[in-house]
Amino acid sequence: MSRSDRMHVGVFFKNTGHHIAAWRHPGSQPDAGINIRHYIECAQASERAGLDFLFFADSAAVREADIEPLSRSSQYTAYFEPTTLLASLAMMTKHIGLVATQTSSYNEPYNLARRMASLDHLSGGRAGWNCVTSGNHAEAYNFGRDEHYEHDERYRMAHEFVEVVKGLWDSWDDDAFVYDREGGRFFRPEGLHRLNHEGQYFRSRGPLNVPRPPQGRPVIFQAGISDAGKELAAATAEGVFSGELTLEGSQKHYADIKTRMGKYGRQPDELRVLPGLTAIVGRTRSEALDIERELAELIHPVVGREYIGTLLGIDLSDCDVDDHLPDRESKTRKTAGIAVSVKAMAERENLTIRQLYERLAGSHGKLTMRGSVTEVADEMQTWFEGHACDGFIFQPMTMPGDLNNIIELLIPELQNRGLIRTGYDGTTLRDNLELKRPASRYAGKPSDVRELAKQGF
Ligand SMILES: Cc1cc2nc3c(=O)[nH]c(=O)nc-3n(C[C@H](O)[C@H](O)[C@H](O)COP(=O)(O)O)c2cc1C
Repeated sequence: MSRSDRMHVGVFFKNTGHHIAAWRHPGSQPDAGINIRHYIECAQASERAGLDFLFFADSAAVREADIEPLSRSSQYTAYFEPTTLLASLAMMTKHIGLVATQTSSYNEPYNLARRMASLDHLSGGRAGWNCVTSGNHAEAYNFGRDEHYEHDERYRMAHEFVEVVKGLWDSWDDDAFVYDREGGRFFRPEGLHRLNHEGQYFRSRGPLNVPRPPQGRPVIFQAGISDAGKELAAATAEGVFSGELTLEGSQKHYADIKTRMGKYGRQPDELRVLPGLTAIVGRTRSEALDIERELAELIHPVVGREYIGTLLGIDLSDCDVDDHLPDRESKTRKTAGIAVSVKAMAERENLTIRQLYERLAGSHGKLTMRGSVTEVADEMQTWFEGHACDGFIFQPMTMPGDLNNIIELLIPELQNRGLIRTGYDGTTLRDNLELKRPASRYAGKPSDVRELAKQGF
Protein backbone atom coordinates (compact mmCIF):
# COMPACT_ATOMS: atom_id res chain seq x y z
CA MET A 1 0.00 0.00 0.00
CA SER A 2 1.78 3.16 -1.17
CA ARG A 3 1.46 6.16 1.09
CA SER A 4 3.18 9.40 2.05
CA ASP A 5 6.14 9.19 4.44
CA ARG A 6 4.80 12.30 6.18
CA MET A 7 2.01 12.55 8.70
CA HIS A 8 -0.88 14.88 7.97
CA VAL A 9 -2.03 17.02 10.86
CA GLY A 10 -5.02 19.26 11.24
CA VAL A 11 -6.58 20.96 14.22
CA PHE A 12 -10.22 20.71 15.24
CA PHE A 13 -11.29 24.16 16.43
CA LYS A 14 -13.94 24.19 19.09
CA ASN A 15 -14.71 27.70 20.26
CA THR A 16 -13.37 27.62 23.84
CA GLY A 17 -11.63 24.25 23.44
CA HIS A 18 -12.73 20.62 23.66
CA HIS A 19 -12.68 20.20 27.44
CA ILE A 20 -16.17 20.60 28.93
CA ALA A 21 -14.83 23.15 31.45
CA ALA A 22 -12.61 24.92 28.91
CA TRP A 23 -14.60 28.15 28.94
CA ARG A 24 -13.91 28.58 32.68
CA HIS A 25 -10.13 28.26 32.32
CA PRO A 26 -8.00 31.43 32.33
CA GLY A 27 -6.19 30.11 29.22
CA SER A 28 -9.36 30.12 27.09
CA GLN A 29 -11.70 32.79 25.71
CA PRO A 30 -15.18 32.43 27.21
CA ASP A 31 -16.89 34.30 24.35
CA ALA A 32 -14.76 32.52 21.73
CA GLY A 33 -17.69 31.19 19.67
CA ILE A 34 -18.56 34.69 18.45
CA ASN A 35 -15.14 36.31 18.77
CA ILE A 36 -13.61 36.68 15.33
CA ARG A 37 -10.29 38.01 16.68
CA HIS A 38 -9.94 34.79 18.67
CA TYR A 39 -10.44 32.66 15.56
CA ILE A 40 -8.07 34.77 13.47
CA GLU A 41 -5.30 34.51 16.08
CA CYS A 42 -5.74 30.73 16.45
CA ALA A 43 -5.90 30.24 12.66
CA GLN A 44 -2.78 32.31 12.02
CA ALA A 45 -0.86 30.54 14.80
CA SER A 46 -1.84 27.17 13.27
CA GLU A 47 -0.69 28.36 9.88
CA ARG A 48 2.65 29.58 11.21
CA ALA A 49 3.11 26.05 12.57
CA GLY A 50 2.50 24.66 9.07
CA LEU A 51 -0.59 22.58 9.95
CA ASP A 52 -2.52 21.12 7.02
CA PHE A 53 -6.01 22.32 7.91
CA LEU A 54 -8.48 23.71 10.42
CA PHE A 55 -11.53 21.57 11.04
CA PHE A 56 -14.90 22.80 12.31
CA ALA A 57 -17.71 20.55 13.57
CA ASP A 58 -21.28 21.77 13.38
CA SER A 59 -24.82 21.22 14.49
CA ALA A 60 -27.87 23.07 13.22
CA ALA A 61 -29.49 23.05 16.66
CA VAL A 62 -28.73 23.65 20.32
CA ARG A 63 -28.47 20.21 21.85
CA GLU A 64 -31.23 18.84 24.05
CA ALA A 65 -30.34 18.87 27.75
CA ASP A 66 -31.76 20.03 31.07
CA ILE A 67 -31.48 23.80 31.36
CA GLU A 68 -29.28 23.63 34.48
CA PRO A 69 -26.31 21.77 32.88
CA LEU A 70 -26.97 23.36 29.47
CA SER A 71 -26.72 26.88 30.86
CA ARG A 72 -23.34 25.96 32.38
CA SER A 73 -21.90 24.61 29.10
CA SER A 74 -20.36 26.39 26.13
CA GLN A 75 -20.51 23.70 23.44
CA TYR A 76 -22.60 24.29 20.29
CA THR A 77 -24.74 26.93 21.94
CA ALA A 78 -23.40 30.27 20.70
CA TYR A 79 -21.02 30.13 17.76
CA PHE A 80 -20.59 31.10 14.12
CA GLU A 81 -21.91 29.02 11.22
CA PRO A 82 -18.71 27.36 9.87
CA THR A 83 -18.75 28.31 6.16
CA THR A 84 -19.43 31.95 7.03
CA LEU A 85 -16.61 31.93 9.57
CA LEU A 86 -14.21 30.18 7.18
CA ALA A 87 -14.92 32.72 4.44
CA SER A 88 -13.54 35.40 6.73
CA LEU A 89 -10.61 33.25 7.94
CA ALA A 90 -9.76 32.67 4.26
CA MET A 91 -8.98 36.38 4.02
CA MET A 92 -6.63 36.26 7.01
CA THR A 93 -4.63 33.15 6.05
CA LYS A 94 -2.82 31.95 2.92
CA HIS A 95 -2.00 28.24 3.11
CA ILE A 96 -3.94 26.40 5.75
CA GLY A 97 -6.92 24.25 4.64
CA LEU A 98 -10.41 25.22 5.83
CA VAL A 99 -12.74 22.30 6.56
CA ALA A 100 -16.40 22.90 7.45
CA THR A 101 -18.85 20.30 8.69
CA GLN A 102 -22.16 20.54 6.84
CA THR A 103 -24.91 18.01 7.29
CA SER A 104 -26.34 15.99 4.43
CA SER A 105 -29.54 15.46 6.43
CA TYR A 106 -30.73 19.08 6.62
CA ASN A 107 -29.35 20.83 3.55
CA GLU A 108 -30.17 20.96 -0.14
CA PRO A 109 -27.26 19.71 -2.29
CA TYR A 110 -27.46 22.78 -4.53
CA ASN A 111 -27.07 25.26 -1.64
CA LEU A 112 -24.24 23.27 -0.15
CA ALA A 113 -22.42 22.81 -3.47
CA ARG A 114 -22.68 26.53 -4.07
CA ARG A 115 -21.42 27.52 -0.59
CA MET A 116 -18.47 25.11 -0.67
CA ALA A 117 -17.52 26.03 -4.27
CA SER A 118 -17.61 29.70 -3.28
CA LEU A 119 -15.39 29.00 -0.26
CA ASP A 120 -12.94 27.14 -2.49
CA HIS A 121 -12.72 30.13 -4.84
CA LEU A 122 -12.50 32.66 -1.99
CA SER A 123 -9.66 30.74 -0.35
CA GLY A 124 -7.73 29.92 -3.52
CA GLY A 125 -8.45 26.17 -3.26
CA ARG A 126 -8.37 25.49 0.46
CA ALA A 127 -11.93 24.31 1.17
CA GLY A 128 -12.92 20.97 2.66
CA TRP A 129 -16.40 19.61 3.44
CA ASN A 130 -16.96 17.23 6.34
CA CYS A 131 -20.13 15.43 5.26
CA VAL A 132 -22.02 14.23 8.32
CA THR A 133 -25.45 12.71 8.77
CA SER A 134 -26.29 14.80 11.87
CA GLY A 135 -25.50 13.41 15.28
CA ASN A 136 -27.97 15.79 16.96
CA HIS A 137 -31.59 14.65 16.59
CA ALA A 138 -32.82 18.12 17.67
CA GLU A 139 -31.90 19.40 14.19
CA ALA A 140 -35.13 17.76 12.96
CA TYR A 141 -37.23 20.26 14.93
CA ASN A 142 -35.58 23.18 13.12
CA PHE A 143 -36.32 21.76 9.68
CA GLY A 144 -40.01 20.99 9.77
CA ARG A 145 -39.77 17.44 11.10
CA ASP A 146 -40.96 15.81 14.33
CA GLU A 147 -38.30 13.11 14.23
CA HIS A 148 -34.73 12.76 13.06
CA TYR A 149 -34.27 10.52 10.00
CA GLU A 150 -33.42 6.94 10.96
CA HIS A 151 -29.68 6.09 11.03
CA ASP A 152 -29.33 3.99 7.87
CA GLU A 153 -31.72 6.18 5.90
CA ARG A 154 -29.50 9.18 6.74
CA TYR A 155 -26.59 7.33 5.20
CA ARG A 156 -28.59 6.39 2.07
CA MET A 157 -29.47 10.07 1.70
CA ALA A 158 -25.81 11.01 2.23
CA HIS A 159 -24.57 8.78 -0.63
CA GLU A 160 -26.98 10.43 -3.05
CA PHE A 161 -26.34 13.89 -1.60
CA VAL A 162 -22.58 13.63 -2.20
CA GLU A 163 -23.10 12.43 -5.78
CA VAL A 164 -25.35 15.41 -6.54
CA VAL A 165 -22.90 17.86 -4.96
CA LYS A 166 -19.97 16.41 -6.91
CA GLY A 167 -22.02 16.54 -10.11
CA LEU A 168 -22.91 20.19 -9.52
CA TRP A 169 -19.26 21.09 -8.88
CA ASP A 170 -18.54 19.66 -12.35
CA SER A 171 -21.17 21.93 -13.95
CA TRP A 172 -18.47 23.87 -15.79
CA ASP A 173 -15.29 22.68 -17.46
CA ASP A 174 -12.16 24.10 -15.87
CA ASP A 175 -11.61 26.35 -18.89
CA ALA A 176 -15.28 27.21 -19.55
CA PHE A 177 -15.03 30.89 -18.70
CA VAL A 178 -13.02 32.61 -21.45
CA TYR A 179 -14.04 36.23 -20.66
CA ASP A 180 -13.35 37.15 -24.30
CA ARG A 181 -14.16 40.86 -24.41
CA GLU A 182 -13.24 41.27 -28.06
CA GLY A 183 -15.21 38.32 -29.35
CA GLY A 184 -18.02 39.02 -26.91
CA ARG A 185 -17.99 35.52 -25.44
CA PHE A 186 -18.21 35.12 -21.65
CA PHE A 187 -18.03 31.33 -21.53
CA ARG A 188 -17.62 28.52 -24.05
CA PRO A 189 -21.02 26.87 -24.59
CA GLU A 190 -19.42 23.39 -24.74
CA GLY A 191 -17.97 24.00 -21.27
CA LEU A 192 -21.39 23.97 -19.58
CA HIS A 193 -23.06 20.78 -18.28
CA ARG A 194 -26.44 20.23 -16.78
CA LEU A 195 -26.66 17.47 -14.16
CA ASN A 196 -30.40 16.66 -14.47
CA HIS A 197 -30.35 14.60 -11.30
CA GLU A 198 -33.57 12.85 -10.28
CA GLY A 199 -32.99 10.40 -7.46
CA GLN A 200 -34.72 8.82 -4.51
CA TYR A 201 -34.20 11.80 -2.19
CA PHE A 202 -33.07 14.74 -4.31
CA ARG A 203 -33.79 16.45 -7.62
CA SER A 204 -31.46 19.06 -9.01
CA ARG A 205 -31.13 20.19 -12.59
CA GLY A 206 -28.03 22.38 -12.48
CA PRO A 207 -25.81 23.91 -13.64
CA LEU A 208 -24.31 25.52 -10.55
CA ASN A 209 -23.88 29.27 -10.80
CA VAL A 210 -20.27 29.10 -9.59
CA PRO A 211 -17.37 28.02 -11.86
CA ARG A 212 -15.62 24.70 -11.19
CA PRO A 213 -13.73 25.05 -7.87
CA PRO A 214 -9.95 25.58 -8.00
CA GLN A 215 -9.45 22.13 -6.46
CA GLY A 216 -11.86 20.65 -8.99
CA ARG A 217 -13.84 19.57 -5.96
CA PRO A 218 -13.31 20.66 -2.34
CA VAL A 219 -11.82 17.82 -0.26
CA ILE A 220 -14.54 15.60 1.22
CA PHE A 221 -14.24 14.41 4.82
CA GLN A 222 -16.45 11.97 6.68
CA ALA A 223 -16.98 11.36 10.40
CA GLY A 224 -19.05 8.35 11.33
CA ILE A 225 -17.98 5.05 12.82
CA SER A 226 -20.77 2.57 12.04
CA ASP A 227 -20.63 0.14 9.15
CA ALA A 228 -22.80 2.52 7.11
CA GLY A 229 -20.40 5.33 8.03
CA LYS A 230 -17.37 3.36 6.88
CA GLU A 231 -19.12 2.51 3.62
CA LEU A 232 -19.83 6.20 2.95
CA ALA A 233 -16.18 6.98 3.68
CA ALA A 234 -14.93 4.24 1.36
CA ALA A 235 -17.23 5.45 -1.43
CA THR A 236 -16.80 9.20 -1.15
CA ALA A 237 -14.34 10.51 1.45
CA GLU A 238 -10.79 11.75 1.04
CA GLY A 239 -10.33 12.38 4.76
CA VAL A 240 -11.82 10.36 7.61
CA PHE A 241 -12.10 11.76 11.09
CA SER A 242 -11.88 8.48 12.98
CA GLY A 243 -12.37 7.62 16.62
CA GLU A 244 -10.62 4.35 17.49
CA LEU A 245 -9.04 4.28 20.94
CA THR A 246 -6.36 1.61 20.67
CA LEU A 247 -3.47 1.02 18.31
CA GLU A 248 -4.79 -2.41 17.30
CA GLY A 249 -8.36 -1.12 16.85
CA SER A 250 -7.14 1.70 14.67
CA GLN A 251 -4.91 -0.59 12.59
CA LYS A 252 -7.95 -2.78 11.88
CA HIS A 253 -10.13 0.23 11.07
CA TYR A 254 -7.43 1.65 8.78
CA ALA A 255 -7.06 -1.57 6.81
CA ASP A 256 -10.84 -2.06 6.73
CA ILE A 257 -11.63 1.36 5.21
CA LYS A 258 -8.78 1.19 2.70
CA THR A 259 -9.84 -2.30 1.61
CA ARG A 260 -13.50 -1.27 1.22
CA MET A 261 -12.42 1.48 -1.23
CA GLY A 262 -11.61 -1.15 -3.87
CA LYS A 263 -15.24 -1.93 -4.48
CA TYR A 264 -15.84 1.71 -5.46
CA GLY A 265 -12.89 1.66 -7.89
CA ARG A 266 -10.74 3.76 -5.58
CA GLN A 267 -7.10 3.43 -4.56
CA PRO A 268 -6.13 3.34 -0.83
CA ASP A 269 -4.00 6.46 -1.23
CA GLU A 270 -7.02 8.54 -2.24
CA LEU A 271 -8.07 8.78 1.42
CA ARG A 272 -6.41 9.95 4.67
CA VAL A 273 -7.44 8.32 7.93
CA LEU A 274 -7.02 10.87 10.71
CA PRO A 275 -8.05 10.03 14.30
CA GLY A 276 -9.13 12.85 16.58
CA LEU A 277 -6.39 13.26 19.20
CA THR A 278 -6.42 14.98 22.57
CA ALA A 279 -2.70 15.62 23.01
CA ILE A 280 -2.05 16.77 26.56
CA VAL A 281 1.53 17.82 26.35
CA GLY A 282 3.94 19.55 28.71
CA ARG A 283 7.69 20.02 28.94
CA THR A 284 7.59 17.15 31.41
CA ARG A 285 5.00 14.47 32.12
CA SER A 286 4.06 16.07 35.43
CA GLU A 287 3.47 19.43 33.70
CA ALA A 288 1.02 17.72 31.32
CA LEU A 289 -0.80 16.02 34.21
CA ASP A 290 -1.04 19.35 36.04
CA ILE A 291 -2.75 20.94 33.00
CA GLU A 292 -5.30 18.13 32.97
CA ARG A 293 -5.86 18.27 36.75
CA GLU A 294 -6.37 22.03 36.73
CA LEU A 295 -9.11 21.70 34.09
CA ALA A 296 -10.75 18.75 35.87
CA GLU A 297 -11.17 20.89 38.99
CA LEU A 298 -13.18 23.41 36.96
CA ILE A 299 -15.90 20.94 35.95
CA HIS A 300 -19.18 21.85 37.58
CA PRO A 301 -20.66 18.60 39.04
CA VAL A 302 -24.02 19.22 37.32
CA VAL A 303 -22.23 19.54 33.96
CA GLY A 304 -20.00 16.52 34.60
CA ARG A 305 -22.92 14.32 35.59
CA GLU A 306 -24.99 15.30 32.56
CA TYR A 307 -21.94 14.77 30.35
CA ILE A 308 -21.46 11.17 31.53
CA GLY A 309 -25.23 10.54 31.33
CA THR A 310 -25.27 11.69 27.69
CA LEU A 311 -22.16 9.69 26.82
CA LEU A 312 -23.76 6.55 28.26
CA GLY A 313 -27.31 7.32 27.13
CA ILE A 314 -28.69 7.13 30.69
CA ASP A 315 -30.30 9.66 33.03
CA LEU A 316 -28.05 10.32 36.03
CA SER A 317 -29.79 13.49 37.26
CA ASP A 318 -30.83 11.81 40.56
CA CYS A 319 -27.31 10.46 41.29
CA ASP A 320 -24.64 11.74 43.65
CA VAL A 321 -21.42 12.32 41.68
CA ASP A 322 -19.40 10.59 44.40
CA ASP A 323 -21.40 7.39 43.94
CA HIS A 324 -20.74 4.69 41.38
CA LEU A 325 -22.73 4.34 38.16
CA PRO A 326 -26.21 2.87 38.66
CA ASP A 327 -27.10 -0.20 36.61
CA ARG A 328 -29.36 1.38 33.95
CA GLU A 329 -29.85 0.50 30.32
CA SER A 330 -28.50 2.83 27.64
CA LYS A 331 -31.13 4.48 25.43
CA THR A 332 -28.88 5.87 22.74
CA ARG A 333 -27.77 3.79 19.81
CA LYS A 334 -25.26 6.43 18.77
CA THR A 335 -23.19 6.08 21.91
CA ALA A 336 -23.44 2.31 22.19
CA GLY A 337 -19.75 1.65 21.47
CA ILE A 338 -18.49 4.36 23.81
CA ALA A 339 -21.09 3.44 26.44
CA VAL A 340 -19.79 -0.13 26.61
CA SER A 341 -16.13 0.88 26.91
CA VAL A 342 -16.82 3.63 29.49
CA LYS A 343 -18.96 1.30 31.62
CA ALA A 344 -16.28 -1.38 31.45
CA MET A 345 -13.61 1.12 32.51
CA ALA A 346 -15.75 2.34 35.45
CA GLU A 347 -16.21 -1.23 36.69
CA ARG A 348 -12.62 -2.30 36.11
CA GLU A 349 -11.18 0.65 37.98
CA ASN A 350 -14.01 1.10 40.49
CA LEU A 351 -14.56 4.75 39.42
CA THR A 352 -17.23 7.13 40.74
CA ILE A 353 -19.22 9.39 38.40
CA ARG A 354 -16.93 12.30 39.37
CA GLN A 355 -13.77 10.29 38.66
CA LEU A 356 -15.24 9.25 35.31
CA TYR A 357 -16.04 12.74 34.12
CA GLU A 358 -12.70 14.07 35.32
CA ARG A 359 -11.02 11.35 33.26
CA LEU A 360 -13.11 11.80 30.08
CA ALA A 361 -13.98 15.50 29.98
CA GLY A 362 -11.06 16.51 27.80
CA SER A 363 -11.29 13.86 25.13
CA HIS A 364 -15.03 13.03 25.01
CA GLY A 365 -14.14 9.35 25.15
CA LYS A 366 -11.74 9.70 22.19
CA LEU A 367 -8.04 9.04 21.81
CA THR A 368 -5.81 10.79 24.36
CA MET A 369 -2.02 10.89 24.52
CA ARG A 370 -0.60 12.61 27.57
CA GLY A 371 2.92 13.25 28.77
CA SER A 372 6.15 14.99 27.90
CA VAL A 373 6.81 16.16 24.34
CA THR A 374 8.96 13.10 23.70
CA GLU A 375 6.38 10.68 25.09
CA VAL A 376 3.50 12.09 23.03
CA ALA A 377 5.61 12.34 19.84
CA ASP A 378 6.78 8.72 20.35
CA GLU A 379 3.21 7.51 20.63
CA MET A 380 2.07 9.45 17.54
CA GLN A 381 5.02 8.05 15.61
CA THR A 382 4.15 4.49 16.66
CA TRP A 383 0.58 4.94 15.41
CA PHE A 384 1.67 6.46 12.13
CA GLU A 385 4.47 4.00 11.38
CA GLY A 386 2.25 1.11 12.50
CA HIS A 387 -0.32 1.94 9.77
CA ALA A 388 -2.96 2.88 12.31
CA CYS A 389 -3.49 6.26 10.63
CA ASP A 390 -2.18 8.75 8.07
CA GLY A 391 -1.95 11.51 10.67
CA PHE A 392 -4.13 13.15 13.32
CA ILE A 393 -6.67 15.86 14.01
CA PHE A 394 -5.66 17.62 17.23
CA GLN A 395 -8.47 18.46 19.64
CA PRO A 396 -6.96 21.08 21.98
CA MET A 397 -8.55 21.05 25.45
CA THR A 398 -8.46 24.86 25.63
CA MET A 399 -8.14 27.52 22.91
CA PRO A 400 -5.78 29.24 22.60
CA GLY A 401 -3.97 27.86 25.73
CA ASP A 402 -3.60 24.22 24.80
CA LEU A 403 -3.45 24.88 21.07
CA ASN A 404 -0.35 26.99 21.74
CA ASN A 405 1.18 24.15 23.76
CA ILE A 406 0.73 21.81 20.80
CA ILE A 407 2.12 24.38 18.38
CA GLU A 408 5.10 25.46 20.49
CA LEU A 409 6.14 22.12 21.99
CA LEU A 410 4.87 19.20 19.94
CA ILE A 411 4.98 20.46 16.35
CA PRO A 412 8.71 21.36 16.40
CA GLU A 413 9.47 17.90 17.82
CA LEU A 414 7.49 16.19 15.02
CA GLN A 415 9.24 18.41 12.47
CA ASN A 416 12.67 17.57 13.90
CA ARG A 417 11.85 13.91 13.47
CA GLY A 418 10.95 14.53 9.81
CA LEU A 419 7.40 13.32 10.46
CA ILE A 420 5.66 16.51 9.31
CA ARG A 421 6.44 19.31 6.87
CA THR A 422 8.28 22.44 8.06
CA GLY A 423 6.50 24.72 5.58
CA TYR A 424 3.90 24.60 2.84
CA ASP A 425 4.86 22.95 -0.48
CA GLY A 426 1.74 24.00 -2.40
CA THR A 427 -1.21 26.33 -2.23
CA THR A 428 -4.32 24.15 -1.89
CA LEU A 429 -5.73 21.80 0.73
CA ARG A 430 -5.20 18.98 -1.78
CA ASP A 431 -1.51 19.96 -1.93
CA ASN A 432 -1.31 19.94 1.88
CA LEU A 433 -2.86 16.47 2.03
CA GLU A 434 -1.02 15.18 -1.05
CA LEU A 435 -4.31 14.37 -2.78
CA LYS A 436 -4.79 14.49 -6.54
CA ARG A 437 -7.08 17.02 -8.20
CA PRO A 438 -10.09 15.07 -9.53
CA ALA A 439 -11.01 15.26 -13.21
CA SER A 440 -14.51 16.38 -14.08
CA ARG A 441 -17.01 13.62 -14.82
CA TYR A 442 -17.39 15.21 -18.27
CA ALA A 443 -13.68 15.22 -19.11
CA GLY A 444 -13.02 13.54 -22.44
CA LYS A 445 -16.73 13.12 -23.16
CA PRO A 446 -18.48 14.71 -26.15
CA SER A 447 -20.14 18.05 -25.46
CA ASP A 448 -23.86 18.10 -24.73
CA VAL A 449 -24.23 21.68 -25.94
CA ARG A 450 -26.62 20.75 -28.76
CA GLU A 451 -28.87 18.87 -26.36
CA LEU A 452 -28.84 21.88 -24.04
CA ALA A 453 -29.77 24.19 -26.90
CA LYS A 454 -32.77 21.96 -27.67
CA GLN A 455 -33.83 22.15 -24.02
CA GLY A 456 -33.90 25.92 -24.23
CA PHE A 457 -30.40 26.71 -22.96
C1 LIG B 1 -15.57 11.82 15.09
C2 LIG B 1 -16.99 12.20 14.76
C3 LIG B 1 -17.31 13.54 14.52
C4 LIG B 1 -18.62 13.93 14.19
N1 LIG B 1 -18.92 15.24 13.97
C5 LIG B 1 -20.20 15.60 13.73
C6 LIG B 1 -20.58 16.97 13.56
O1 LIG B 1 -19.75 17.88 13.62
N2 LIG B 1 -21.87 17.26 13.33
C7 LIG B 1 -22.83 16.30 13.24
O2 LIG B 1 -24.00 16.63 13.02
N3 LIG B 1 -22.51 14.99 13.41
C8 LIG B 1 -21.24 14.64 13.64
N4 LIG B 1 -20.93 13.32 13.81
C9 LIG B 1 -22.05 12.36 13.73
C10 LIG B 1 -22.06 11.48 12.50
O3 LIG B 1 -22.10 12.20 11.31
C11 LIG B 1 -23.25 10.56 12.54
O4 LIG B 1 -24.44 11.23 12.40
C12 LIG B 1 -23.34 9.79 13.84
O5 LIG B 1 -22.12 9.55 14.41
C13 LIG B 1 -23.95 8.45 13.58
O6 LIG B 1 -23.19 7.77 12.60
P1 LIG B 1 -22.23 6.56 12.97
O7 LIG B 1 -23.12 5.58 13.65
O8 LIG B 1 -21.74 6.12 11.62
O9 LIG B 1 -21.13 7.06 13.85
C14 LIG B 1 -19.63 12.93 14.13
C15 LIG B 1 -19.30 11.60 14.38
C16 LIG B 1 -18.00 11.22 14.69
C17 LIG B 1 -17.71 9.78 14.96
